[in-house]
Order: sequence, then structure tokens, then C-alpha cells
Amino acid sequence: MEKNIFNNKIQNMKNYIMFEIKAKQNELAPMLKAKNRAPIALSMGAPVEKVPDFVIKKTIEYLNIDSLHTYSTPKGETKFLEAVKDRMKRRFNVELNSKTEIFSLIGSKEGLANMIKALVNPNENEKDQDVILIPTPGYASYSQMIKASNARSYGVELKKEDDYQPDMNKVLEKYIKEGNDPKKIKALIINYPNNPLGCTCKFEYLQHCVDFCNKFGILLISDNAYSEMYFDENSKPHSALECKGAMDCCIEMYSFSKSYAMTGWRLGYAVGNPTAITMLSRQKSTVDTGIFKVLQYAGADLLTSEEGQKYIDEQNQKFKNKLIKFTAGLKSLGYKIDVPKTTFYLWLEIPKRFKDCVEFANEMLEKSGIVVVPGTAFDKNALRHVRLSVVAKDEDLDEIIRRMREDGFEFEK
Ligand SMILES: Cc1ncc(COP(=O)(O)O)c(C=O)c1O
Repeated sequence: MEKNIFNNKIQNMKNYIMFEIKAKQNELAPMLKAKNRAPIALSMGAPVEKVPDFVIKKTIEYLNIDSLHTYSTPKGETKFLEAVKDRMKRRFNVELNSKTEIFSLIGSKEGLANMIKALVNPNENEKDQDVILIPTPGYASYSQMIKASNARSYGVELKKEDDYQPDMNKVLEKYIKEGNDPKKIKALIINYPNNPLGCTCKFEYLQHCVDFCNKFGILLISDNAYSEMYFDENSKPHSALECKGAMDCCIEMYSFSKSYAMTGWRLGYAVGNPTAITMLSRQKSTVDTGIFKVLQYAGADLLTSEEGQKYIDEQNQKFKNKLIKFTAGLKSLGYKIDVPKTTFYLWLEIPKRFKDCVEFANEMLEKSGIVVVPGTAFDKNALRHVRLSVVAKDEDLDEIIRRMREDGFEFEK
């Protein structure tokens, strides 16, 4: 077959970095096992905890109901949509119309990609492409999804000196100064709590982003996949929909993947501006036919149950303990790292003797079987950082610190 029958952008793209890393990990596994360094993954943001017993019990119950085995719709079952409505009211005091302002998702990744597709007019010519502003560093998929839609991403730099909450008016000024056309901007993506930084933002900052998007008539896409992963009440994340004027410009994405350890279930939801929801619906109805009804029913019960909240609270305590212990281990090796306030991610500065984060990540894998992600996956300029997902079992985390000490990965040598 002629190679060039395929979409130019797709032909020139690489597979998503996490799958590439996983493939390399699998390829090296026999060699690593042979030298007592079986791979331990701190790469994907995928908790290894057991999912809530409650959701398993409910799934088994619903599997026995014949009517739940037929097609659903992309929008989702009424029971699921009502459960989301209830959850948004109880957790954030946000009132939603379940018919027009809520939509089911096959995980938030799919929702983000389809929202972007519904938003941009594809153009092969980079100069004329629609632009989406994305957090940098940020979730590695954003830039890929935008590129695959023949649009362009523009990085909004998250810097420590701004407490990772940049003034959007200054960002726009810089964007214009660099010769970019503000009329091309279609949306701003924000992600608090943030992957890979592990930080979150103040409520006032969400209002700032809502005001910015309303002023310029663009969509605010709030990726709230980590909304339930926080370690003290002062860092408890908000919904952007709590802000004044948010329903005029904002769509927000949620996921069951992280806080319920249900990454494989592919369950999430979008909430917010009814026009954005309608456009997402049109896009999704061309490419999917909704989520298995059994999963929606069980997920709905989980969202509204006491068991679900108890599970989240217990998981947060577990992750907090893991993070405290693991950062202490890294500190004992000389690394400068604090316990994050939200998420299970550590954004770790690498020792000076390594050329860059790719060399460090490769050596950690090839020498010690420790799988981490180079910072450049999240920000092309993040050459001196790697991301660690502290999702492994406690004994594996202890083993990592032991291997790093034995194999010469102290910060200073
Ligand atoms: C910031 C962020 N958004 C969205 C997702 C996608 O999660 P899912 O599709 O499992 O809901 C991830 C996964 O790692 C993420 O880190």
C-alpha cells in the first residue's frame, strides 16, 4: 500500500509516549529480571489499588439484568446523568440540568480529544491553524490531540514564581508580541490539580480564567481528572463551574480513573456549557455509541454512595502516606523534593551529571528497572525533570530507593 494515503499529521506522529515507554519496559523485562531488577513502573498515572468492592458488587448485580446489555447512547443513561447531577451538587454546590449540561465519557481523554475535534477547523498550514492554549508542563496528550486535529497548541507556562497560576492577560500579551493572531485562539485548557506538577490553584484563579475566556469569547476546558486527589482540606480542589459566569464559557471533564483506581473501566463525564455539550454530542455520536450500560449503572451508584466517598478518603490517606515515605527516601538520596498537595505525581529535578532527562530515564530503566517519564513529554523545555507516578505498592517504593542507592542514582555522587 502507498504510505501516503494516510493523513499527513498522523503519519508523522509518534505513538503516545506512555505506550512507547511501556513497550520498552516489556522488551527489557527479561534482561532486567535476570539481573534482579524486574521493572517497577512509576510511569503511567495508573493506581494499582483494588477498585472499590462496592462497584464490583453492583456490576455483578447489573450484569444479570438483560436490558442492560444493549447499546447505550453517547450521552449516557438517565441514571448515570442524574448521579452526576447529584454528585456535582453535593461536592461543589453546582446545579446542572441533566438533559443539557451533562454528558457521559469513555474516560476523560476521549472527551478532551472529541471536544477539541468539535472546536477547531482543521488546517494543514500551521500559520493558519486554530490555536488552543495548554498548560505547560501539562498532560502529554493535549498537544498530541490538538496536532492530530490539525490545529496548534500554544504553551501557557506554569512557573513556580507565579505559584503555577499565570496571569492570562500577560500570557495573551506575550502571545501577540510573538506575532500570533489572537483571533485564532479557540480555547484555554486548564488542569488543576495538575499533571505532572502535583499542584493545584486557588478558587480566585479559576475565576480569573473564566473571566478571561468570557472576555475573549473562547471556551474554557477545565480538566478536573484529579479533583478528588488532595491531601488536606486547604488544598481541596474546586470546580471551575462554581465561578460566576462559568456556564457561559466552560466545559469541565471528570474521570473515575484516578480516585477510584478504575483506569481500565473507561468511565468519565463532561459537564458545563450547553452549547459545548451539544457540539461534543454531535462529534461523539459520529464515533461512539456510548458506554456499556452495566458500567454506567454501577458507576452511578458509586458516585452517589457513601462507600464511594469512603474509598476516596481512604485512598487519599494511603497516597499521602506513600508520598511522605517515598519523598523522604528520595531526600535521603539528596534529591530536593516536597510532598505534593494534590495528585500522586512527583516532578523531580535530575542530578547535574546527566546530560538530560531522557538520559536519566533511560539509565534508570536499563540499569535499575525503574520506569519514569522524561520531563520533555510534558514540556519540550523541561530537560532537567522527570515525572514519577507514585502509584506502586509500598514494598516496590522501598525497593526503588534501595536500587537507586545501590546503582548510583544519588543526587550527588
Ligand atoms: C490531566 C489528565 N487528564 C486526563 C487524563 C485521562 O484520564 P482518563 O481518560 O483515564 O479519564 C489523564 C490521565 O492520565 C490526565 O493525567
